Parts: sequence; C-alpha cells; structure tokens
Amino acid sequence: MSQNDTATPSVLFVCLGNICRSPMAEGAFRAAAEKAVLDVRVDSVGTADYHIGAPPDPRAIAAARSHGVDISGLEGRQLAASDFREFTHIFALDHANLEGIRSREPRHSTAQVAMLLDAVPGQRGEAIIDPYHGDDAGFEACWQSIDEAVEALVARFAKDGAAARF
Ligand code: 4NP
Repeated sequence: MSQNDTATPSVLFVCLGNICRSPMAEGAFRAAAEKAVLDVRVDSVGTADYHIGAPPDPRAIAAARSHGVDISGLEGRQLAASDFREFTHIFALDHANLEGIRSREPRHSTAQVAMLLDAVPGQRGEAIIDPYHGDDAGFEACWQSIDEAVEALVARFAKDGAAARF
C-alpha cells in the first residue's frame, strides 16, 4: 500500500483557463464533500497561464450561485510540477487538458491522473465541453454534468478513500 492509499484524498481539477470548468468543479466537489461530511482537500488550476490571479468567469460564478455555491473568491492558478506530489488525484475536464497534464507530468509524480467523467458510469473517457465561447445555458449544462461527476467522486472517495482508482 502506498502512502497515498491511507492519506486524505486531495483532488485537483484541471481545465484550460481555470476560470470556467475547473472552478465550478472545485466548488461543486467541495459542496458535495461537505454535505457528505467527507474529509478532502480540493483545488483547481489551468494548463494555460492566461488567467493567473483572476476570479472565475462571471457566468461560472452565476451558474454556481444558482446552485447555492459561492466560487467568487477563487483565483486562477497554473498547473505546477509540485501539484503532482501534493494531490492524490488530478482530474482533467477534457482531452486537451489531459494532454497538457501528461506533458507536464514529472517522473516523481505520485498523483493518479484521470478524466473527470471517468468517475461516471457510461461516460468514461468523455469530456466536459468548454462553455467559454457559449451562453448561460451552456454554463448551466456544464454545471449539471460536473455536478453529476463530483457526486460520483464523493461516493467513491467515501467508499475507498485516497486509494480510489478511476
Ligand atoms: P476553462 O474555459 O478552461 O473552462 O476555464 C476557458 C477559459 C478561458 C479561455 C478558454 C477556455 N481562453 O481562451 O481565455
């Protein structure tokens, strides 16, 4: 059993800009874990450096708020080499994000890297579509998909802890 198996799950969500999908995933996952009284760490980052230090997109904030989750205080951050040791699980929101993660993965990585929708039965390998160039309805659809996935994640972590494999 590796050290990660006994640790508190620590989860990093990764999209491109860290202003739309991954902050929504961070907020939705934190809310679902709190509801389940599950001890986890959570953060989100982008593969790109476009929005470092910026708050989430106002449409993402509004979508989260309409579901009772406040993500307005989050700040954009870019994926760092240290993330591969500090998090037990790193979830990509789409395939380009997965490529971006893999291309930065250091040899000393201890994190398990997967697609977020790998956690949802019947959706393994599928992507959360980037809503950035769309409208409010796209952000709501994005929230719904993310919310389904994080509920599945919480259920798996509640059962298997940091040893959960996706
Ligand atoms: P995200 O969406 O990766 O879900 O945060 C995007 C945010 C910004 C850009 C693209 C996608 N951008 O090109 O600036």
